Amino acid sequence: MTQTEQKELVAATAIDTLIKNKKIFSGMKIGLGTGSTAVPAVKHLAKRIADGTLKDIKAVVTSFGTQNLCEELEIPVYSMNDKIIGGHLDLAIDGADEVDPDNNVIKGGGAALLREKIVAYNAEQFVIVADSTKIVDSLGTKFRLPVEIIGEARVPVTKALEALGAECVLREGVKKCGPVITDNGNQILDILWKEPVNPCMMEDKINSIVGVVEVGFFTKNKPIVFTMNSDCNVIQR
Ligand code: 5RP
Repeated sequence: MTQTEQKELVAATAIDTLIKNKKIFSGMKIGLGTGSTAVPAVKHLAKRIADGTLKDIKAVVTSFGTQNLCEELEIPVYSMNDKIIGGHLDLAIDGADEVDPDNNVIKGGGAALLREKIVAYNAEQFVIVADSTKIVDSLGTKFRLPVEIIGEARVPVTKALEALGAECVLREGVKKCGPVITDNGNQILDILWKEPVNPCMMEDKINSIVGVVEVGFFTKNKPIVFTMNSDCNVIQR
């Protein structure tokens, strides 16, 4: 099975399992993630709205990309600040770049980590859908951890991250000269460690650096993770 096929199967199975287990139901406020695994999850959710299984779903999106997709699929989109949402979601569903054995996660490969974390940390239940390549023993030694920063603070933030033992690279645009600019107008440092670090402690340490907007370690609202095992069965952990 290709990675794309895995993403589609895991995403669709997760949505249907959550509906069956009454963790997704009509009237819910749902945070929708960003990326090539979140896309089939959003599409499958739209399918269940279209076939009448789900009614009155209110979505909060995490990027312009997911907003455009929801508009195309006619999923009603709200802001976290809308009265009807009240700053709290019933569930958030998203992809991941890496997941460790304790279900700590790295996110931000699509530069949407800030709004993804706002949604994930303000949801009653956080759900990750991840193909098997995302499952790792420890975070941040192969995939670079994204850190969203204020552009003006790039040098001091880089020095502070280097003092924590990280090697930093400014994310460059594709078909755009200079750095990637996030949906929030910020820049991204992608950082790598030679040795595994404690992601929970490091999430707090990095977020305490002045000029850091948000870090891509997600350790505080532990998700249910849907992924695929070596027998090509979707599993939940
Ligand atoms: C975007 C993200 C994505 O969820 C993460 O990068 C995984 O992406 P994909 O599903 O395309 O592999 O965090 O900011």
